[in-house]
Amino acid sequence: MQVITAVQALKQYIRVLKERRSTIGLVPTMGALHEGHLSLVRQAKKENDAVVVSIFVNPLQFGKNEDFSRYPRTFDNDCNILSQEGVNIVFNPGASEMYPDGFCTAVIPESLEDKLCGKSRPGHFRGVAVVVLKLFNLIQPDVAYFGQKDFQQTVVIRRIVSDLNAGVTIKVLPTIRDQNGLALSSRNAYLSETERNDALCLYQALIRAQSLVKTGIVNTEEMVREMEKIISQSKSATIDYISVVNPETLESVQKAQSGDVVALAVRIGKTRLIDNVILTIYEQPILSDT
Ligand code: PAF
Repeated sequence: MQVITAVQALKQYIRVLKERRSTIGLVPTMGALHEGHLSLVRQAKKENDAVVVSIFVNPLQFGKNEDFSRYPRTFDNDCNILSQEGVNIVFNPGASEMYPDGFCTAVIPESLEDKLCGKSRPGHFRGVAVVVLKLFNLIQPDVAYFGQKDFQQTVVIRRIVSDLNAGVTIKVLPTIRDQNGLALSSRNAYLSETERNDALCLYQALIRAQSLVKTGIVNTEEMVREMEKIISQSKSATIDYISVVNPETLESVQKAQSGDVVALAVRIGKTRLIDNVILTIYEQPILSDT
């Protein structure tokens, strides 16, 4: 496994892979790897000749008062894991390598950036969009892999790929959860034991939403009220938002349909967690007399 920190060196490795006509799978990460990331790496490994994992805690996607400086950084451990997974290249640039002096270009996912998480994290999705597009330009992957947990991020990335003809196939893989249902996230490392228990309310609320629609309750105001009731039982929980949205536009819907997404962000103590489910609503079987 090659660990590369410089853009020039990365370009040379990519040139060799392209000359050999190797297909490239990219898994962009900020490190502090968990089983969620590894599910993406394993899928990339299955489907491509070479796998590149980027590890870069991207300053442009953190707000001033957010957790950039204390975001978990476990680089050596991450590299050990990735080498065991058979990853070919780890790209781990410094901030000045990615954003040298004079860097001033923005990628603005206009109608998507002020919805859901974008409301309380202004500028976040511009930061994600620019770094992901830069990684695509540098690595020229055939396929890039993302987790469904960051649902809005996947919508933004699909949009920029389509709008700017980035020529990368985007694959979104299911959220990986612990045995209690908590979505794996690098930020779970911030939670105390009690908070980790409180954090289960996110998934419990999502399951409630899914079971309501299965019983025919598709009015989203009612769904959100029921979810709020569940979350309010956890002492350390404060709701940022709960929304049922169209999976492409992220516009709120009043009546939920199959494929719509229930997304939420909840603060557990000081830690902001997100999660979502894609709704499935079964059609009523048509009963026949025969
Ligand atoms: O999901 C993440 O870890 C980050 O937002 C990403 C896609 C690596 C961009 O920094």
